[in-house]
Amino acid sequence: MTTQKTLLRGRILDFVAEPQSPEDDSAHIHIEDGAILIEGGRIVARGGFAEVNRQAGDAEIIDHRPHLMMAGFIDPHIHFPQVQVIASWGAQLLDWLNNYTFPAETEYADPAHSAAMAGRFYDQILAHGTTTAVAYCSVHKTSARAYFAEAARRNMCMIGGKVMMDRNAPDGLRDSPQSSYDDSKALIAEWHGRGRAQYAITPRFAITSTPEQMEMAGALVAEHPDCFVQTHLSENHDEIAFTAELYPEARDYLDVYQSHGLLSEKMLLGHSIHLKPREIDALVETGARPVFCPTSNLFLGSGLFDDAGLRARGTINAIATDVGGGTSYSMLQTLNEGYKILQLQRQRLHPLRAFHWITRGNAVALGMEDRIGTLAPGSDADIVVLDARATDAMALRMERAETLAEELFVLQIMGDDRAVAQVYVAGAPA
Ligand code: GUN
Ligand code: ZN
Repeated sequence: MTTQKTLLRGRILDFVAEPQSPEDDSAHIHIEDGAILIEGGRIVARGGFAEVNRQAGDAEIIDHRPHLMMAGFIDPHIHFPQVQVIASWGAQLLDWLNNYTFPAETEYADPAHSAAMAGRFYDQILAHGTTTAVAYCSVHKTSARAYFAEAARRNMCMIGGKVMMDRNAPDGLRDSPQSSYDDSKALIAEWHGRGRAQYAITPRFAITSTPEQMEMAGALVAEHPDCFVQTHLSENHDEIAFTAELYPEARDYLDVYQSHGLLSEKMLLGHSIHLKPREIDALVETGARPVFCPTSNLFLGSGLFDDAGLRARGTINAIATDVGGGTSYSMLQTLNEGYKILQLQRQRLHPLRAFHWITRGNAVALGMEDRIGTLAPGSDADIVVLDARATDAMALRMERAETLAEELFVLQIMGDDRAVAQVYVAGAPA
């Protein structure tokens, strides 16, 4: 962490609330000649350059004009051991898991492989502007160790956990109810709250956990209410039917998790596509967070997430890549495909809400908006600098962009890692 003061000069976009409509200018701050003052890894001030510069003393000045500086992106659902699974052809969820994903994850028993891939994983997400993620590691304790150790080395705010899975998976990729409890407990003791790390208790999904393991997950949640909890919910019709066979007592898919005490505002439920009315009621009552994974839902042919329907009921929805079911590490490309999924349902994703979503919105879903997701003084200095003219095609389109919303929409639809000019993690260039 740097103790030297740094002043970033450039255009600033920061959100103070969720924009309620395309016309709502009250939820964001946009400054043409802006500055962010950083000290000790935190944002000390942000505002107009002239004003912030008066507090800057002997700060090093880095000029990012004419690029746009905003809070680093947050990806609240991604699979660290799937960096070599992304773009695997032809299957829907269950075959895709069995044919590609499980064999690849088996290799993470090897600490050297886990460590090497952790480095590659962070290189990727940072290159795409993501400064915080919530990840599934493999079943092996060693994969979670590699994941957290590499995050600590880079001073990144990362959340994750080893998956608990004790059935319907190949040899070398199953734990047991007791070992999954013991390993998760040990990892929580080692990593939760250490530096910027937080632990997510991670029963992979209903199909790969026996009721005995789900009980162990419930025990962990009861013993560690400050940990996150993550799993998958109602992604695919075959998955839902198999879950009903495996848990005949459950009222529906969500009830598998609910009856084991897993639901709260700390819970992230990947996909949440094919939901029944009772399940939606339970999400609303418990505050559990549905996570929209657009590129994955299209790639695996899973279905269309009903963002507006859920929001109208009062859920707080997150948005994420789900690499390697997802096809891009880019939260910009995630917004691009998300926009189209919502179009198919006559729902609309305005660029201001889109950029709020991948920054402050996801931070709110994690209950962490006081630390990450905005440029407010006191926040950790995790920042992305974006160039809306990064490619010739984007530059050509930008010749006719007159408003901030138009520029953001070009980034939302055409942007990817090429549009990421610079990333700062806790105030240091990544
Ligand atoms: N359900 C259980 N595991 C997974 C996974 O790794 N990816 C996706 N997309 N869905 C899952
Ligand atoms: Zn997933």
